[in-house]
Amino acid sequence: MPTTVVTDLPAPRLTDTFGRHINYARLSVTDRCDFRCVYCMAEDMEFLPRSEILSLEEIYAIAQGLVNAGINTLRLTGGEPLIRNNILWLIEKLGALEGLQELTLTTNGSQLSKYASELARLGVQRINISLDSLDPLKFKQITRTGNLEQVIEGIDAARAAGFKQIKLNSVIMKQRNDEEILDLVNFAIAREIDIAFIEEMPLGEINEHDRAQTYCSSDEVRQCIEQRHKLLPSKKTTSGPSRYFKVDNSNSHVGFISPHSHNFCSDCNRVRVTVEGRLLMCLGNEHSVDLRTILRDQAADKQALTTAIKQGLLLKPERHYFDLNSQPDIVRFMNMTGG
Ligand code: GTP
Ligand code: 5AD
Ligand code: SF4
Repeated sequence: MPTTVVTDLPAPRLTDTFGRHINYARLSVTDRCDFRCVYCMAEDMEFLPRSEILSLEEIYAIAQGLVNAGINTLRLTGGEPLIRNNILWLIEKLGALEGLQELTLTTNGSQLSKYASELARLGVQRINISLDSLDPLKFKQITRTGNLEQVIEGIDAARAAGFKQIKLNSVIMKQRNDEEILDLVNFAIAREIDIAFIEEMPLGEINEHDRAQTYCSSDEVRQCIEQRHKLLPSKKTTSGPSRYFKVDNSNSHVGFISPHSHNFCSDCNRVRVTVEGRLLMCLGNEHSVDLRTILRDQAADKQALTTAIKQGLLLKPERHYFDLNSQPDIVRFMNMTGG
């Protein structure tokens, strides 16, 4: 019998019905969070019961299924991923997962002083940290429970840990933090890290503010920055929604994530998995596949998960439609989806 020579097989490639190449998945590892950001959550949130959420082993099995299907970049999100018990176990497993090219994390920064160096050691490459205000009082008002000093310490711990890239995320709301745009940019420049400004999305019903009234477009944010800094065109991309510019005379980039004013869906490269195990095709739509049932079905074989992921992709819609002037179509809060 001839011996089979194993050559490097081409990595599987996932393409949706609109010809988009999907190589990136965001895994929400918990719906819980130690903050209650006003744009993300209602004040009184009910979280999922334990039986509804995936175990860390199940999340790892899904990650394996995703990589087998053609995903090569994973971003862990939440809620706040770093408050999930034993999360470092999962991160270590993912850091060693064959076929995965990039492991990244989005966090509110509250636990970074504790975990930053361990995260870098276990293979997290890029880290995104929310920061909406540099004023301790305003920071408290926006996050409801957050402590600014702790988050700044976390950001500095991440810098000291040597991540390849650190990006801050700021959701800008008129009359709340729009006066801080330049301060936030200068904070990022001083630390030689990047910053993205995000237009708030209507995910879940909130009463704290009227999203239509606080809406601040990326063009307005950009004009404000350009009063002080020159923004140069940049080739930087994560194939994600952020459009990046280099800040002249600095080592920082400014990004704009503009779900309302500059739709980015035609370049979408991503899917999401909620902590209940729903493979969600789009942040702004409900098309999804229930992976948890497949995982918990004793009769299902290993391939079943990969097949379901590939088939699910055919459901991926062309784009999101957000309307700030009516009740949100999407009742899911952002902490369920992980952004
Ligand atoms: P990378 O591309 O991996 O650098 O990450 P990112 O900037 O997309 O991720 P991050 O977790 O920092 O999210 C920043 C903001 O972008 C959040 O408000 C997300 O909800 C938003 N976002 C990320 N992906 C999508 C998307 O596919 N659609 C929409 N509408 N928003 C997204
Ligand atoms: N609209 C836009 N961005 C949001 N985030 C949370 N909720 C919303 C929303 N409704 C952001 C957080 C975090 C990222 C994962 O998502 O600021 O940086
Ligand atoms: Fe928590 Fe992030 Fe939502 Fe704020 S935006 S409440 S930090 S999950």
